Amino acid sequence: ENKLDILNLPSLEAEAKKIIPAGGFGYIVGGSEDEWTLAENTKAFSHAQIVPKVLSNIEQPDLSTSIFGISLKTPVMMAPTAAQGLAHSQGEKDTARGVAAVGGLMAQSTYSSTSIADTAAAGEGAPQFFQLYMSKDWTFNESLLDEAKKAGAKAILLTSDATVDGYREEDIVNNFQFPIPMANLTKFSEGDGKGKGIGEIYASAAQKISEDDVRRIAAYTDLPVIVKGVQSPEDALRAIGAGAAGIYVSNHGGRQLNGGPASFDVLPAIAKAVNHQVPIIFDSGVRRGSHVFKALAAGADLVAIGRPAIYGLALGGALGVQSVFEQLDHELTITMQLAGTKTIEDVKRAPLTHFNYAD
Ligand code: FNR
Repeated sequence: ENKLDILNLPSLEAEAKKIIPAGGFGYIVGGSEDEWTLAENTKAFSHAQIVPKVLSNIEQPDLSTSIFGISLKTPVMMAPTAAQGLAHSQGEKDTARGVAAVGGLMAQSTYSSTSIADTAAAGEGAPQFFQLYMSKDWTFNESLLDEAKKAGAKAILLTSDATVDGYREEDIVNNFQFPIPMANLTKFSEGDGKGKGIGEIYASAAQKISEDDVRRIAAYTDLPVIVKGVQSPEDALRAIGAGAAGIYVSNHGGRQLNGGPASFDVLPAIAKAVNHQVPIIFDSGVRRGSHVFKALAAGADLVAIGRPAIYGLALGGALGVQSVFEQLDHELTITMQLAGTKTIEDVKRAPLTHFNYAD
């Protein structure tokens, strides 16, 4: 496998479609219902514009940043996404390698194809977060939190927007069932996920997540707990009140609640309410360096991508993932240069304008 020759991230989808079996591809690409929210996620970046700043005397922008004192070479991180074995035999291990190669941050899903320990080892000391899908079985939740801690995870992402599977028509049409097991579920009494659809897996976890659960998890683990799936200022403040050490603004890439706003559109009001009390991670629809720039300028501290990295994994394993992050960093570098911003802190302070365009 070689590095990929990438023109842009959106073009990867069609390439990946040729090599990922139809059921798995449908699961990855799909959103819920008529996919309105999914489509608006990316379109929404045109609701704000970057103010070009010239005469700024910048030679080489610096993309490095940090979260919870962890140094990163890029503000773009890997979102937690399930079952990466659908895209490549090495699954999350290669994703971890690719992300490590760019000095980025990897998030592992509870529903990973490879185990917490194996994925962590593949990243060779590069920082990782662990995403928890809480289950009704607290022994199981606690064992995952313990394993993540032992494997060196730096934070827990507690996903709050998937208490039930979104109405995903691609999966229904394909009658999609995972052909591979989920390594972390082998200890779960309801099985390892193989031969089940995502809806059945969510149902057997039977999440009914509340502020009390955030409190309970934050009390159990000494890792920072970041609540993922927040889409309103009120919920951000409730999560912080319940002990969240970070807020992850996301609508799950348009896979859960269809009809909700584009994730980018809700970010500024959430950032205003959070007011730097805790860091903010943002995702859903990010495909361009200019999107990363706008998300940072609108209040995010880190920006995550899901699908494009999985396509890179399918097309080129670890080097494919690395290529995707390098492409986004390359576009971000150019954007920063042209916008007159030398550092990520400069980007976070950069103004956005809001002209209305017909298209
Ligand atoms: C996801 N996402 C997700 N989120 C999560 O918290 N736990 C998970 O296991 C998964 N699994 C998952 C699988 C696949 C195939 C996709 C595409 C997404 C959501 C993910 O973390 C992120 O929010 C979105 O992928 C971001 O949107 P984009 O970048 O894909 O548009």
